[in-house]
Amino acid sequence: MSGPLVLAIESSCDETGVALVEGGSRIHANVVASQVALHAPSGGIVPEVAARAHLRWILPVLDEAWSSAGVSWDDVGAVAVTRGPGLAGSLLVGINVAKTLAWVHDKPFVGVNHLEGHVYAAWLRDPGQAEGEPPPFPLVALVVSGGHTFLVEMQDHLTYRLLGQTVDDAAGEAFDKVGRLLDLPYPGGPEIQKAAEGATRHDTRFPRAWLGDSYDFSFSGLKTAARRTVDAARADAGLREPEEPLPHVVTAELAWGFQDAVVDVLVSKTVRAARESGARSIVLGGGVAANSVLRTRLAGEAEAIGVPLIVPRPGLCTDNGAMIGAAGARRFLAGERSGLDLEATPSLPLAR
Ligand code: KG4
Ligand code: ZN
Repeated sequence: MSGPLVLAIESSCDETGVALVEGGSRIHANVVASQVALHAPSGGIVPEVAARAHLRWILPVLDEAWSSAGVSWDDVGAVAVTRGPGLAGSLLVGINVAKTLAWVHDKPFVGVNHLEGHVYAAWLRDPGQAEGEPPPFPLVALVVSGGHTFLVEMQDHLTYRLLGQTVDDAAGEAFDKVGRLLDLPYPGGPEIQKAAEGATRHDTRFPRAWLGDSYDFSFSGLKTAARRTVDAARADAGLREPEEPLPHVVTAELAWGFQDAVVDVLVSKTVRAARESGARSIVLGGGVAANSVLRTRLAGEAEAIGVPLIVPRPGLCTDNGAMIGAAGARRFLAGERSGLDLEATPSLPLAR
């Protein structure tokens, strides 16, 4: 083993994840049960439904992680779990299972910030994947998820200086809301990406909220503009009933325009932050980091200023247990331990 093996549990939102991660990077197992199909009919996450689904799936996911890993409890150095931010009822399920496992097997226990997990996903390596260079410090990390959007500077491990954050909606939330406006299935993020790929004209331009020189983000004006544009497009197409769909070409064009506006702001601010802070790398994480246009644009512009972009494969950008194992190992190696009285903290900030 090249560092402690961490059994990690993630249950903050709507994915039940269990992973075994060695040395903060090497994945031995990473099993995720997604609740997307369960929440799709309501077009959003229903907290009590999410908590009950975690309760239903957490032990089968744990079983599958063990059976795919080829390691045993004797190898485990610590148990890590997401302590926040997230939905209280969802967090409680993972925390309770993790505490019980740590207690029964007499292992050290570490509570992890979910957002730190999204950052540390950049250090992960899949089974069989060659050992790469870890992201060099100082770095800037952009985390774009369903609940959070922020830009931080890291001079070293586990130290964060907040450069900017959203003043209203998270980027993923904006994708999901505009997806709903366009009558796309839940969650809107991947659906908007897919719809935008079908756009034949690329001349819809939505407003960008630059907020001066600030590194903060705002997506609520964009959402309002999208609503107005969708209403106008429906009127143009002569659609009167809400159930009458927009023609595909129009949906594709609007999805492209919205995605282009979000990506433009995210990429511009991140690259400027990297340049102005003298960063040696850029890390991208969170569910929206699965977006192929964001990945490609940021990689291109980072390369243009000579700074490497490190972004996990899409399956490690969305919520999973491995990212909690990566961050948990770092905390464990830094000597951090949580008591078995650890509580769920639904609004835990990243930098305290
Ligand atoms: O990080 P995550 O899995 O959960 C939270 O911690 O919030 O992020 C989920 C968010 C959702 O809003 C979803 O629409 C968005 O990530 N997302 C995407 C894509 N895949 C997931 N947004 C844009 N493009 C994608 N391909
Ligand atoms: Zn997340």
